[in-house]
Amino acid sequence: MAAKNWFDRTRVYDAMIDFENLVIDTTHGQILYVEGISVSFDGFKALNDLTLYIGDGELRCIIGPNGAGKTTMMDVLTGKTRPDKGTAFLGQQIDLLRMTESQIARAGIGRKFQKPSVFENLSVWENLALALKAPKTVWTSLFARFNGEQRDLIDETLAIIGLEAERAQDAASLSHGQKQWLEIGMLLVQQPRLLLVDEPVAGMTQQETERTAELLTSLAGERSVVVVEHDMEFVRSIARTVTVLHEGSVLAEGPMHEVQQNPRVIEVYLGEEC
Ligand SMILES: Nc1ncnc2c1ncn2[C@@H]1O[C@H](COP(=O)(O)OP(=O)(O)OP(=O)(O)O)[C@@H](O)[C@H]1O
Ligand SMILES: [Mg+2]
Repeated sequence: MAAKNWFDRTRVYDAMIDFENLVIDTTHGQILYVEGISVSFDGFKALNDLTLYIGDGELRCIIGPNGAGKTTMMDVLTGKTRPDKGTAFLGQQIDLLRMTESQIARAGIGRKFQKPSVFENLSVWENLALALKAPKTVWTSLFARFNGEQRDLIDETLAIIGLEAERAQDAASLSHGQKQWLEIGMLLVQQPRLLLVDEPVAGMTQQETERTAELLTSLAGERSVVVVEHDMEFVRSIARTVTVLHEGSVLAEGPMHEVQQNPRVIEVYLGEEC
């Protein structure tokens, strides 16, 4: 019966959301309000009363040991996993826990998974065109005549992700790092206000990692960016504020230089690394 109630509630909420004119209320400076979220899997608490806030335009890094709940947190924010309790709002008013995955994406949260999922047989340009908000089927996306605004958006995005020279190449020919950037580009053309990025530099070369640091840093400001990453050198290079998750809740939060001296953080995560 719970499922039916859930379905009905979502439908009602959908009817209430005017996605075209959606305003994310950040007048109090925050774009994301997560309060008291708990998620259990067979009695195991993956998230345990998690509370955190992300500022509008902020670049936040989330670190923590394996199993700390980092990916589960992103699953909750994107509607993939329903928490047992707690609240999650985009801006002051958009109740993420009442929305489906696709509604959340339309409302302005973009998520980058670890494994790139670009269309290998399509060109870089076509991949971005397919990801545009408007036409939704493959057929209409590829064969529609894009208007000037859409073409400009694709061109701007190609510049941001540094793939202008590769625009006509098949995605299959890109390096691992370039595929990751293309996927970030596919999110950017949907013009999200909040980007969630899970382990972006895993498997990247040193040079690609540095380029990714520059890219994510440049994306913040106009948007908010939450990055989960284990690569501490990378985190140090981009982070203003770092949140440390441990056993499903926040263990520490603050500037990297403070967090990495916190004895509890050293004990549970950083160990000898610092
Ligand atoms: N669908 C699921 N069913 C059962 N247990 C799950 C499920 N998803 C996650 N878990 C468990 O919840 C805990 C938190 O997992 P999560 O993937 O969020 O950790 P993480 O911080 O992202 O770790 P990592 O750094 O290894 O990616 C882990 O113990 C995991 O095994
Ligand atoms: Mg994870």
